[in-house]
Amino acid sequence: MDGGTTTVSVIGLGNMGSALADAPIAKGFDVTVWNRTPAKAERFAKAGQAVARTPAAAAAASDVVVVCLFDHAANRDVVLTDGVAGAMRGKPLVQMSHVGTEGLAELEAWAGRHGIPVLKGLIFVYPDDIRRGEGTVVYGGPRVLFDSLRPLLDAMGGRPVHAGEALGAGATLGAAYCCFLYPALLGFLHGAAMCHRSGIAIEDFTKDVIMPFPRGRSFAGMLEGLMRASASRRYTGDLQATLDAWYHDLELALDGVTATGVSTALMAAVRDRFNVARARGFGGQDVAAIFETLVEGANPGAD
Ligand SMILES: NC(=O)c1ccc[n+]([C@@H]2O[C@H](COP(=O)([O-])OP(=O)(O)OC[C@H]3O[C@@H](n4cnc5c(N)ncnc54)[C@H](OP(=O)(O)O)[C@@H]3O)[C@@H](O)[C@H]2O)c1
Repeated sequence: MDGGTTTVSVIGLGNMGSALADAPIAKGFDVTVWNRTPAKAERFAKAGQAVARTPAAAAAASDVVVVCLFDHAANRDVVLTDGVAGAMRGKPLVQMSHVGTEGLAELEAWAGRHGIPVLKGLIFVYPDDIRRGEGTVVYGGPRVLFDSLRPLLDAMGGRPVHAGEALGAGATLGAAYCCFLYPALLGFLHGAAMCHRSGIAIEDFTKDVIMPFPRGRSFAGMLEGLMRASASRRYTGDLQATLDAWYHDLELALDGVTATGVSTALMAAVRDRFNVARARGFGGQDVAAIFETLVEGANPGAD
């Protein structure tokens, strides 16, 4: 283990919680576990890890407490109690459960009342990615706490990212990531459905067309271009293709989608957004100018 916190308690040994315990154990941390259903703690006991009898005992046992329970209700029952607060005596808590906005506010109030420093983690990956040390986890909370817990955070996934000082910053970054991920997933399935209906092997579509794209330089270059343009809010320099040119290809793609008979809803929604940008006079600028139609918030009449 590479210094810093040596003892960690993990409360919650579901699919993700057990990975969050396995990963630091593999890195040499001394881990105490607790789970409502004791059977899930048995393999940890057999491997020589301590098993606490109560959440408060788990909180008392270590330098830092990691929590991964199903939802806010479980956290309210198990963690946000006077017993756990008393046992923690101001030690840091790393909350990995999804608890929503209300849960976050309650956690913040409870921690504030009891002087408990908190980091709120949001996990982007599956438990096995955490075990392999390949997971991205974003955290909201004090940077100074993030830095002081860094060896443990490195051990729990391998790529911790500090999103901001606000406890909810990780959740915001997570939701932003989902804005990218979910349409990408749906877009892939759309394309696969088109191939299926047209007698094209989904394997060929995936391996020959889709997968080389994120692996190649053009995808990274495109993302960097979008990043530069939206961060600076400048859409006229170094133009590779205008928004109107993208729109032209979008219309042709929509024709192709219609011809195969699959749903056009996804691409029609994309076209609607392009049309908002064109109506605002961005047709001759970079496609990133669509950012301007999103950043100002809900856009009645144009949405
Ligand atoms: N799995 C993933 O891929 C993944 C990825 C990112 C984030 N997450 C987040 O990680 C959190 C846990 O997910 P999971 O996949 O590990 O779920 P899970 O396998 O269903 O485990 C849920 C855990 O919560 C405990 N629990 C539920 N209700 C409880 C209650 N009322 N009192 C005490 N303990 C209670 C369960 O205890 P018992 O064993 O006694 O039922 C178990 O330890 C969720 O907030 C989820 O959003 C999961």
